[in-house]
Amino acid sequence: MHGIKRRSSSLNTQRIDHIFDHPNLELHYGDVTDSMCLTRLFNQIKPDEIYNLAAQSHVAVSFEQPEYTAQVDALGTMRVLEAVRLLDLKCKVYQASTSELYGGVSMGKLNEDSPMVPKSPYACAKLYAYWMVRNYREAYNMYAVNGILFNHESPRRGETFVTRKITRGIANWLKTGQSIRLGNVYAVRDWGHAKDYVEAMWLMLQQDTPKDYVIATGIAFSVKTFIDICMHTLGKQVEWFATGAYVDGKPLVRIDRRYYRPNEVNHLLGDSTKARTELGWQPKYDITQIAEEMLKEDIG
Ligand code: GDD
Repeated sequence: MHGIKRRSSSLNTQRIDHIFDHPNLELHYGDVTDSMCLTRLFNQIKPDEIYNLAAQSHVAVSFEQPEYTAQVDALGTMRVLEAVRLLDLKCKVYQASTSELYGGVSMGKLNEDSPMVPKSPYACAKLYAYWMVRNYREAYNMYAVNGILFNHESPRRGETFVTRKITRGIANWLKTGQSIRLGNVYAVRDWGHAKDYVEAMWLMLQQDTPKDYVIATGIAFSVKTFIDICMHTLGKQVEWFATGAYVDGKPLVRIDRRYYRPNEVNHLLGDSTKARTELGWQPKYDITQIAEEMLKEDIG
């Protein structure tokens, strides 16, 4: 197993520290903005499967760094596909596509045929990547697939994504009484567990025919309800007001407009019938188990 990591002046491998010394893992410096490096590495490694998870993956940040987001998320995917094509590798390519492609314009369940209306520079870049995967598949007969994954969480989730911000915030609130500052708590997401979703990614590359699949639980909650579920697992009741939330008379959440996005994706709910039928995939974790696991990690 080979991994590509970006150079950073501070350590950035915390999430894989537990397997860092594994004899079957080899890490290389690289970047999807550097096509020569990708071509050299792919030629040296001759991979059977490539999982392109490289991205500027924060939707809010993409409004501040649209060009960088496009370089990595859009053109980066093209560079991966092009390197595979030019080297004439027979490897399979997984592309980390996203429910953000749909833009939250429909309140119904979204499947592989639902209209895509991107609402951020991140989603626009990912839409380009989605179409490039389909085009390379058709034009060059490549085994390249889009996994259209809805939000997936775990204790390893980055600290600025909303679920982890909440579970870390609750841990801090319990210790210090400091409230959590959040944006639109009415946004609705279909949250699954990253472990389940990684299994789906692998399954997509084990098929005879390359196809795109939606991966989702089929159940959605608001950010506000996620907070209620978290506090419920701790045996506490949340009281909501327009400006935030209180628990035991103490402020837990404050609404802060700085976290509102210029364009919000209000509602995302997925329909993964195709993956369930054709891949035999189904999620093992529900939202309460996800919240409990994340809280356990952050509260200790
Ligand atoms: N990050 C964040 N911080 N989000 C907040 C906050 C806050 O303080 N307050 C409210 N939200 C709302 C956001 O406006 C959004 O509607 C929702 O919470 C979820 O935000 P994120 O956790 O940042 O995730 P996302 O849905 O924008 O995108 C994630 O999931 C996509 C689908 O899998 C990312 O992981 C994307 O990279 C991924 O494509």
